[in-house]
Order: sequence, then structure tokens, then C-alpha cells
Amino acid sequence: MKLSIVLSLASLAFTAPPSLDKFEQQPLTVQDGFDLDLNAQRLIQLAEGQASEWIELKALGLKFFDITDNQDLGNGIQSPARVKSSFPPPNATEKVIPILKTLSTQGPKENLEKFTSFRTRYYRSDTGRASQKWLLSRISEITAKTASASLQKLITFREFKHSWGQNSVIVRIQGSSTTDDGIVIVGAHQDSTNLWPFLPAPGADDDGSGSVTILESYRALLAADYRPVRTIEFHWYSAEEGGLLGSQAVAQDYAANSVNVIAMSQFDMTAWVKRGTREEAGIIIDYVDPDLTNFNMQLVDLYMDIPFVQTQCGYACSDHASWRKAGYPSTFTIESSFENSNKNIHSVNDRIDVSEEFSFEHMLEFSKLAVAFAVELGGYTD
Ligand code: BES
Ligand code: ZN
Repeated sequence: MKLSIVLSLASLAFTAPPSLDKFEQQPLTVQDGFDLDLNAQRLIQLAEGQASEWIELKALGLKFFDITDNQDLGNGIQSPARVKSSFPPPNATEKVIPILKTLSTQGPKENLEKFTSFRTRYYRSDTGRASQKWLLSRISEITAKTASASLQKLITFREFKHSWGQNSVIVRIQGSSTTDDGIVIVGAHQDSTNLWPFLPAPGADDDGSGSVTILESYRALLAADYRPVRTIEFHWYSAEEGGLLGSQAVAQDYAANSVNVIAMSQFDMTAWVKRGTREEAGIIIDYVDPDLTNFNMQLVDLYMDIPFVQTQCGYACSDHASWRKAGYPSTFTIESSFENSNKNIHSVNDRIDVSEEFSFEHMLEFSKLAVAFAVELGGYTD
């Protein structure tokens, strides 16, 4: 069904003039501001353990784990044998709760209004590159404004470069430990897409919401002058919608360098409360680490003001799956059960103002979870 829409849209685009000449040359870039070769062959994997297959990009709908550039991810060659982490019950309430009280919807509102004002954040578009540069500059401003001078010395941010225009963004708060090299990652994806990539894609919920959710958590941690024992990283991945491309590249790089990631938590879609449903947090239980997911559920109970419900995507639906594939424990929390999640995603209607079901208060609950995840697993120094 989805595939047929994509195919018919694709044929529409190819028959639409600018000029017949241009059409006959089968240009690789079919629209200004997009660097997209629709004839490229991509290797995709439909389900875990299933054989992969080659497919032309123009025939690709969504729901594909595109493994073309990361075929070795998790095959054990580059990932060292790791000692499996255990996750004792959360016990840092004294540190976490005061930070939760400082979380606000104001920053997320301003940030999301700006982030959704880009026509699309598609990873191969000029505006997708511009939105990424804006994100980086916003992180830089928040850091300069919020973190004390001594805390700033512990913070670095960088672009993780990709071959397509939009880079992933990585912020690191250096841990104090000299003996524990474990790293805790909080992630979201910064790119958006329309089912047909050339059309507008505000991506307010998918995944503008997760992007600003974790940014607010980062701001609150800095405001609290939080100093972790283990290094904490915040990641904003590029090209999730292209088949988890950005997160696969980052996870592959970390595995190749034997980086000791002890836990990764993904935030993708945190804003929607479907009319007539109970407000809750959806805990994804497929393509995740069961122990870390169990720990994550304890965090929801302890720190969020809404209950959780276990749910499934049924496929490798977001960046947590890249980390899991690389052999690292990951967990994934969404706005509701999968069934009650926002159905406007991948369309021009994935907007803040599409309905009252889009809720910044709901989003704030997830900022609490990200703060708790960082502090409980990262530890703290006084
Ligand atoms: N945010 C979605 C996944 C999602 C959908 C999570 C509904 C929770 C509720 C994600 O950005 C996405 O669109 N993923 C693709 C698959 C990916 C491998 C390209 C999808 O679901 O089609
Ligand atoms: Zn999506």
C-alpha cells in the first residue's frame, strides 16, 4: 500500500516538467535543494535474522533498516566481547527530583516552533542541513548561557559527519571517574520526512518532539550544575528516516573504537495524547535490551507522573535498534501505545497546531525520564 503510493508519486514527479530535456537525462538530483539519487541501489533488512535484499531507492517506502553502508554492524568483528551491564534499582531520587522541578515547557515550545519552521528536515535536503546547523548553534547557546564556567570545561559538542549533507550532533559531558569508562547515551532523531521526501515535512512529533525533549533535559542538567561520574552523551541523529543511517554510522564507529556504552535511551515521538485515551508512556519491548527496559520501566514509575504501558513497533522502528544491533543495551519510550500514537507523521500535518492532542505538558514527562536516565546511570559527584 505505502509502496504503491511512493511509486505513483515517483512516476508523477518524473513526468512533471520543468523541461523534457532534463527529464530525459534522468537527473540524479530531481529537485533543487535535494541530493537524492532515486536510482541508487540500497541494501535493506526487513526483519531481524531475515535475509537482506537490494532495492532501488525510488521503490523504497519507509519501515526499512537500510544496511548498505553498515553491513558489518554487530557481526562481532568490530564489537569487543562486552561484560553485560546490570541495572540495579534506581536510587538517586534526592538528586533527580530537584532537577525535575526545574523542567519547563517554555524552551521546548520555542525550540520546536523554530525546528518545525524548516520546510523539511529531510537528511538529503538543504533545509535539513540548515536545521542541523541551527540545532548545533542552539546547543551552543544553551551551554554558554546555562553551564557554569567550570562545567563548560567538561562539555564538548561536535558534528558526526555523514556523506549526505546533514550531520548527527553529539554533546558530551565528561564523567569524573578515572576507573569507569562506561558511557550513557540519550538520543533522538533530528531529521524529518514526508512519505514523498520532496514535500514539506514539519516533523513536529516525529521527531521534533524527542529532539526538544532531550534538549530540555540537557538544559536542566546544566542549570543544576550536574557533574556525572560516567560520561553522558546526548545524540541527535541524522537520517533515521532514511533507514537508521545516522545512528548506525555512530554505533558502528563506537563499536570499532571499543567505546563502552552501558546504556542508550531513545526518544522518538513524545507529544501526542490521543483524544479519549488515558495519558501514558509507551515502553517498547521489541528490538530492545530486556534488562535496560525493565530498569526504564522502574524510572517511569518513580519519576514520571503518568503510568507506562508495554507496546511494540513490530520492526526496527528507530535508532535504539542500531545500538542493539551493535551489541549495546538500548531502550525506547514513546508517547503512548503504538496503536494510539500520532498518525499524522510523515505528512504536512505533523504540526504542533494540528490538534490539541499535541501536548507540551505530555512532552515534559519525557524530559523527566531523560534526566532520570542520565543521573541514575551516570551517577553524580557533589
Ligand atoms: N518515529 C517513527 C517510528 C515510530 C512510529 C515510533 C510510531 C513510534 C510510533 C520513525 O521515525 C520511523 O518513521 N521509522 C520508520 C522505520 C525506519 C527504519 C525508517 C517507520 O516506522 O516506517
Ligand atoms: Zn518517522
